[in-house]
Amino acid sequence: MKIAVMGYGTIGSGVVEVLKINQNKIAERAGQPVEVKYILDLREFPDDPMEDKIVHDYQVIVNDPEIGIVVETMGGVEPAYTYVREMLLAGKQVTTSNKNLVAAKGAELIQLAREHNVNFQFEASVGGGIPIIRPLNKCLTADEIEEITGILNGTTNYMLTKMASEGAEFDAVLKDAQEKGYAEKDPTADVEGHDSCRKIAILTSLVCGRQVDYEDILCEGITKISAVDLKYASAMNRCVKLLATSRKQGETYSCMVAPFMLPAEHPLCNVNGVFNGIFVHGNVLGDAMFYGSGAGKLPTASAVVSDIVDMVKHTNVNIYINWKSEKLALKSYRESKNRFFVRTNSDRETVEKAFGAVQYVEAGVPGELGFTTEEMRESEFETKAAQIALVNRIRLG
Ligand code: HSE
Repeated sequence: MKIAVMGYGTIGSGVVEVLKINQNKIAERAGQPVEVKYILDLREFPDDPMEDKIVHDYQVIVNDPEIGIVVETMGGVEPAYTYVREMLLAGKQVTTSNKNLVAAKGAELIQLAREHNVNFQFEASVGGGIPIIRPLNKCLTADEIEEITGILNGTTNYMLTKMASEGAEFDAVLKDAQEKGYAEKDPTADVEGHDSCRKIAILTSLVCGRQVDYEDILCEGITKISAVDLKYASAMNRCVKLLATSRKQGETYSCMVAPFMLPAEHPLCNVNGVFNGIFVHGNVLGDAMFYGSGAGKLPTASAVVSDIVDMVKHTNVNIYINWKSEKLALKSYRESKNRFFVRTNSDRETVEKAFGAVQYVEAGVPGELGFTTEEMRESEFETKAAQIALVNRIRLG
């Protein structure tokens, strides 16, 4: 099988490396050798052993009938979308690690692949090296999936872990994560929660079979989390994690991305560093947990190459993926119920006038109060919180 790789950055070069490191095992599993014929990139790579494979025009790949599989690791929606579309129209199978592309155009590209009897796969788009797309599409098909809650972003989990264990500053740990190749080109997508939001939208689309737009999901990142919040968390024997959740509510889902304070014994509290953890609850399965390397060059490339192997085995066979373009209207997050940890500059009288009886948290922070609330609707919390001088609030899991 001759393949092309579009985008020779961190993940693209990782795919080439994985195909080399495990060449024989991959050939055995795929039933034939897999050879990289082209690498598409705007740049030149003069000292790279793959230098002679570099091309700058994607039409070279489109027009070469020898190419059966194309790997898209460019990132971003355009020009990735245009290139992938043309590859599918030309009867080539495509695998991508690009969650921006999958979240925006997944349903359309799946349909296009089906019409051309090829496959569009995207295992690496969620959870890095952890298998989650194929399990949802192939293994958990007997269930109504009632909940998915996960740590879906390695960069922010790495940052929160370091901030909690070393008392490190936000900017320093972000730089470290970028240097290790975990972060997106623009790390705003990581720290503002957009990356997690696209990933939970992809997972929810797969389990409901319809288009979930990430723009419809409440998305809060970790930029407001400070060392003081982590001090309160420690006083409450809790960890702080950026969670992406999706819960079935009648005929639809309620989704949210936000930092949560979880009790230390919660399984997701033990998901540290760049690791991701994804909890899935099915109505007949019960609970399942997926855990592993959530970002980085080789783990993500491992997931891309698993798609290549699957597609070699399914040449001329479309693997049905239930994700239609018809949009699912999500239930508003404002109707969901949560408990909250709150920091305020108001006095106890003002707090209790707004919230009634609350539980105060003593963390030795001067000049402010910290307390936890009873469970209430998000809309109710917003009304009560407007009556106090709010410093920060974090949901309790
Ligand atoms: N920036 C992403 C993360 C890469 O940190 O999880 C993997 O999708």
